[in-house]
Amino acid sequence: MIILACDHAGFKLKEEIKAFFNSENISAIDVGCYSNDTVDYPDLAHAGVERVLENPQNVGIFICGTGIGMSMVANRNPKIRAALCTSKQTAVLARKHNDANVLVLGGRHTSKRKAIKMIKLFLTTDFERGRHQQRINKF
Ligand code: RB5
Repeated sequence: MIILACDHAGFKLKEEIKAFFNSENISAIDVGCYSNDTVDYPDLAHAGVERVLENPQNVGIFICGTGIGMSMVANRNPKIRAALCTSKQTAVLARKHNDANVLVLGGRHTSKRKAIKMIKLFLTTDFERGRHQQRINKF
């Protein structure tokens, strides 16, 4: 399952991503927030992390203004590997090399078009294991 979480600065992009998922019949759980009203991103990051960790198959898409705050909070959980991605290449490598289970986007710095391209790649790219697993074991 895909878990969506955002703060007010990521709300618009999250809604655009949800519309894309709906058009493709892709299911996602939205843990909020649900409006442009100001919220504290750690609350939404914690809510997202909780749902991601319910099933090892789950992946998160977390969005705040820069993506930095969501990344910092999510990565405090040792089972989360949250990657703030800014390009198609970083979205692919976050999966191939880092086995990222959360894609983090900066809502104020990422267009809908680019976000959807990154999401498609993130969701369809496999972890390469091997030396990359050895490195993850050292986290
Ligand atoms: C909210 O203004 C902003 O600080 C937040 O969305 C995020 O960018 C924090 O890292």
